[in-house]
Formats: sequence, C-alpha cells, structure tokens
Amino acid sequence: MNFWFFIGCSLIFINVIVKADLSEDLERVLSSYEYDPKCVFNYTEVNSKTIKNFPKCTHVYGIININEKSDVSFKQLENAFKNVTNLFGGVIVQNSNLTSLSFLRQYSYFDCSAYGFHILNNSQLTDGSILPTIYYTTNENLDNTPKIIIKNNVNLNLENLCWERSIGDLAFFKTEGNLKNCGCDGEYYSPSNRSQFESCQNVYNGLKLYNVSSSQVSNSLANVQMVRAFLDIQNTDFQNLSFLERIKWFQANTNDTVILNLKNNPNMTRLGLPNLEETDIGNKDLYGLKYFNFENLHPDFCITLTEFKFFLMKMIDIVKLHAKLCEVTEEEKNPLVPVCYFVSMEELANNCVYIIGDLKINSGDEDHATKLLKVGYLFGSLEIRNTNLTDLSFFVKFRYIIHMDGECSCYIGNIIEFLDSRPIIQIIGNKKLKDATLYAISVSELVPTAFYFFDFPENLCEGQTRSNNPGQSSCYIQK
Ligand SMILES: *[C@@H]1O[C@H](CO)[C@@H](O)[C@H](O)[C@H]1NC(C)=O
Ligand SMILES: *[C@@H]1O[C@H](CO)[C@@H](O)[C@H](O)[C@H]1NC(C)=O
Ligand SMILES: *[C@@H]1O[C@H](CO)[C@@H](O)[C@H](O)[C@H]1NC(C)=O
Ligand SMILES: *[C@@H]1O[C@H](CO)[C@@H](O)[C@H](O)[C@H]1NC(C)=O
Ligand SMILES: *[C@@H]1O[C@H](CO)[C@@H](O)[C@H](O)[C@H]1NC(C)=O
Ligand SMILES: *[C@@H]1O[C@H](CO)[C@@H](O)[C@H](O)[C@H]1NC(C)=O
Ligand SMILES: *[C@@H]1O[C@H](CO)[C@@H](O)[C@H](O)[C@H]1NC(C)=O
Ligand SMILES: *[C@@H]1O[C@H](CO)[C@@H](O)[C@H](O)[C@H]1NC(C)=O
Ligand SMILES: *[C@@H]1O[C@H](CO)[C@@H](O)[C@H](O)[C@H]1NC(C)=O
Ligand SMILES: *[C@@H]1O[C@H](CO)[C@@H](O)[C@H](O)[C@H]1NC(C)=O
Repeated sequence: MNFWFFIGCSLIFINVIVKADLSEDLERVLSSYEYDPKCVFNYTEVNSKTIKNFPKCTHVYGIININEKSDVSFKQLENAFKNVTNLFGGVIVQNSNLTSLSFLRQYSYFDCSAYGFHILNNSQLTDGSILPTIYYTTNENLDNTPKIIIKNNVNLNLENLCWERSIGDLAFFKTEGNLKNCGCDGEYYSPSNRSQFESCQNVYNGLKLYNVSSSQVSNSLANVQMVRAFLDIQNTDFQNLSFLERIKWFQANTNDTVILNLKNNPNMTRLGLPNLEETDIGNKDLYGLKYFNFENLHPDFCITLTEFKFFLMKMIDIVKLHAKLCEVTEEEKNPLVPVCYFVSMEELANNCVYIIGDLKINSGDEDHATKLLKVGYLFGSLEIRNTNLTDLSFFVKFRYIIHMDGECSCYIGNIIEFLDSRPIIQIIGNKKLKDATLYAISVSELVPTAFYFFDFPENLCEGQTRSNNPGQSSCYIQK
C-alpha cells in the first residue's frame, strides 16, 4: 500500500499505479473470503457507472474506493449502502467532496482485516459520527499496523469520537492532519513531547520507552490508565513501573505480541505495577495470548508471589523470566493457603498449596505422597525417582510449575524458548509407574505447562514432543 509514495509523480503514472495496486489488492481481498458472487463489488472505483452494479446484498465484498473522480452523490451512496450490514474488504474515501461518512450504515460490521479503512484528504468532510458506531474486525495481528487511518481531513474534528465505542477499542489506529486528531498516539511519545502526554489516560499504538532515563520521563505518564497494543521498556534506568501511577488496563488485539516487554533495564529490581489487583490484561484477538517478557534486568529482579498469582489468574504467558521469586512477605503467608518451603517429603506439612523449592519424591517417600493432595503451585522443579508409586493421582490440584533458575527462562503457558538447562520434571527409575499423567496440568487452558523427562522404557511417551496425555503437556524423553 505504498502508492502514496508515488503521489507527486506524473498524474497519469499515479493513476496506473493506483489502479494496478488496487486491482491486485481487490483480488487478494476477494480471495480471502468465501462469498456469493452476486454480492461482490468487483470494481476499483465507485462512480456513476459502477454504482449501478452495486450488489443488492446485506453482506458485500470488495474495496469501496471513493475518490475525486467519483461522480456520485451522497444520496446515491446512501442508497447503495442502505441494506449493507456487513462489509468485507476495504473502504477508501480520498480527495472526495463528501461532507459526511454516514452513507455507511449505523451499527454495521466491517471486516477490514484484509485491507483497511482509509479516510484521506477530504477537505469538506466534517461529519465522522458514523465511525464509532461500526464494529470493526481488524486482525492487526497480521502486521501490527493500523487498519484504520484517518488523515489530512482538514475540517474533520475527531476529538469526541476517539474514545467512543469501537474506535476506543482499537489497539492501533492512525489519525493525523485532521482538524483535531485523537490524542495520545504512543508512537509520538518522546521525552521532548512528554508534556503532551501528561493528561493522557488512554494511549494507543503502543508505547515504547527506549533509551530514556526515568528523570526524562518523570511523571509524564502518571495519568495513563490504559495502554493499548503494548508497553515496551528497553535500555532505561527504571527500577520498576511505579511511574505508571494509574495504570489499569493493558489492551492488545493481536495473537503474537508481547504486551509487556521489560528488557535490558539494568536497574530494574521489581515489576511494581501499581494497582495490580485492579489491573486488567486483555487481548481481543480470538487466539490472542498475553505475553510478558522479563529479560536481562537487574540480577536481583524478583517477582512476588502476589504478582505470580496475578499472572496465573490473568493467564499471562511468559517469554523469558530472568527473575527470582521475591521473599514471601508476612501478608502473603495466608494460613488458609499455606506456603511451604520444601526440604524433604518427610518434613513437608500436609496442607501446602504453594511449594517453593525443588520437590523431590524418592524411594521411601511413597506414604508421604498424600501430603501433596492440596498442592496447586510449585516454584521449582519436580523429581520423582526410584519410587514404587504406580501413578501420580495424588496430584489432584497440581496445575502450575513455575520454574526459575538463575540463567534460564522458565515457562508459564506456551513455551517459547527452551534453554536446555535443568529439566522441570524428571520421572526416573520408578519401576511400577504405569501412569505418569498429571491430570490438572493442561495446555488447553493456556496455563503453565512443563517438560517431562523420563528414562524408563515402559513409559507412555515414546517420541520427543509427543503429548504425554492427549491434549495435555508436552513430553520430552531424556536419552
Ligand atoms: C472480478 O473481475 C476480474 C476482472 O475484471 C475477474 O477476473 C474476476 O473473476 C472477477 N471476480 C469476481 C469475484 O467476480
Ligand atoms: C434493500 O432492501 C429492500 C427490502 O428488502 C429492497 O426492496 C431494496 O431493493 C434493497 N436495496 C438495495 C440497494 O439493496
Ligand atoms: C468536488 O467539488 C469541486 C468543486 O466544487 C467540483 O469541481 C468537483 O467536480 C466535485 N467532485 C465531485 C466528485 O463531485
Ligand atoms: C488533497 O486534496 C487537495 C484538494 O482538496 C489536492 O490539491 C491535493 O493534491 C490532495 N492531496 C493528495 C495527497 O491527494
Ligand atoms: C511530538 O508529537 C507530535 C504530535 O503530537 C508529532 O508530530 C511529533 O513528531 C512528535 N515529536 C517527536 C520527537 O516524536
Ligand atoms: C538504544 O540504545 C541501544 C544501545 O546503546 C542501541 O543499540 C539502540 O539502537 C538504541 N535505540 C534507540 C531507539 O535509540
Ligand atoms: C520503585 O521505584 C521507585 C523509584 O522510581 C522507588 O522509590 C521505589 O522504592 C521502588 N519500589 C519498589 C517496590 O522497588
Ligand atoms: C496468529 O495469526 C496469524 C495470522 O492469522 C496466524 O498465521 C498464526 O498462526 C497465529 N498464531 C498463533 C500463535 O495463533
Ligand atoms: C542505576 O544503577 C547504576 C549502577 O548501579 C547507578 O549508578 C544509578 O544511580 C542507578 N540509577 C537509578 C536511577 O537508580
Ligand atoms: C518397592 O517394591 C520392592 C519390590 O516390590 C520392595 O522390595 C521394596 O521394599 C519397595 N520399596 C518401598 C520403599 O516400599
């Protein structure tokens, strides 16, 4: 879609390029849907001729390109779109004389994931009130670029439309050169611009803080409540995120972006998100995972038990976890959900919900296995060696293994990077073990999963990466 680049060259040349580009785009757009052929608007321009063939359908496919050569009136457009409840493809309104976009139907659905919605350079346009009423599907995950672009409409005031329904939900969108733009485009944040952000509550297009010092950022982001798309903090001297005093939402709309990236911040010892309990991490993408990355921070960087509970509750997936578990505080030691430090099975209390340490079940510990009935969370690794256990059914509630060791990453949820360091689970030399299933650990719920290491020939898992239990955790064989 870089044909804007060519504007300024010869007019004839432009038209050729635009046409060629659009017909390719049109083909691409159409090929991404299954449609009723009579509901396709198969033209690269709306004009008095082509509008006669505008499909009489509720669901219309194509790219609706309205430009300076579109000799059609608002009335004609309104008529054509009267019954269109669902539009698939694209809309371009460029250099038109339109004063309003309300020829589109209110509360209609517009899947612009395959092309986009581009409102460019319409000098008479004043009425954009239709914009926030449309339900957009953008699939920004394809390229993390805005699909909705509203630029250079010198009489269009977007100010009151920006945070309304649907427009207010977009993680990425672009407004520039209009009478009033939507403020708080994170792409424009810089220390020299910071005063423009002091009143921002809602930042879109992501927020990158790269190579800035905490004094440069100062309190410019103290009012931000919502960051849309991502927050990416690299090469700073921040100690934690307490400068985001009012943060409450992280809202993405993508299936493969790290929503919170903390990387190469050598002074960072804590996450320290204020209002953790009230914070929400959302991803509107159907398949959207919610990744956090903690990479190369201060060597003492630690995550509290409370923060981990939050990650698990919000189903945060973690890319790298260069972190330790912070010392458990008195407040975190709730007698109803006991936190135990593992020494041995014999010394273990019998009601632990959280176990911190490497849990080892050895020969002679079989009778103590019932102490594990309540365990839900293990911060460490699991080793079951040389026992007479026949199955692992005593792990009734065991759902999470959070594995950290100094150098390596640990894995919560989807495994992105596997540094072959210590195994997370080792089940070795248990001659009577028939069933090594850990029933409560399930990948399908996108909760922490684990690696399994077995060395006994009769185990259930024969091939690398084969599932240990159907639909459940991966299985790795230690050779
Ligand atoms: C659209 O038009 C092009 C050529 O004008 C044609 O090749 C193509 O089959 C048409 N597609 C549909 C879906 O009608
Ligand atoms: C809209 O729907 C009405 C009623 O079904 C129909 O009579 C009319 O022809 C349709 N108009 C267009 C432009 O699709
Ligand atoms: C837009 O307005 C200009 C000037 O009034 C006129 O020359 C032009 O034909 C109009 N364009 C369309 C598409 O109506
Ligand atoms: C924008 O519209 C003006 C007239 O309204 C026109 O002169 C100019 O070339 C257009 N710019 C672009 C980039 O299309
Ligand atoms: C500052 O913000 C304005 C718009 O708000 C933008 O046009 C400009 O590029 C920004 N400057 C920097 C250095 O990012
Ligand atoms: C930030 O600093 C790093 C290391 O000095 C450098 O590699 C990178 O290009 C810088 N990034 C920006 C956006 O300035
Ligand atoms: C967070 O960083 C600030 C300095 O920016 C510091 O005063 C505060 O003690 C830190 N909080 C934690 C929990 O580390
Ligand atoms: C993310 O979306 C893209 C495009 O739809 C798809 O190709 C990819 O497989 C998806 N990734 C995941 C992890 O679902
Ligand atoms: C960051 O750490 C360096 C080295 O430990 C120290 O000199 C500097 O004062 C710290 N900066 C802040 C803002 O804490
Ligand atoms: C395990 O079973 C073997 C053979 O049945 C037996 O000799 C051994 O004593 C058992 N070990 C324990 C700890 O019960």
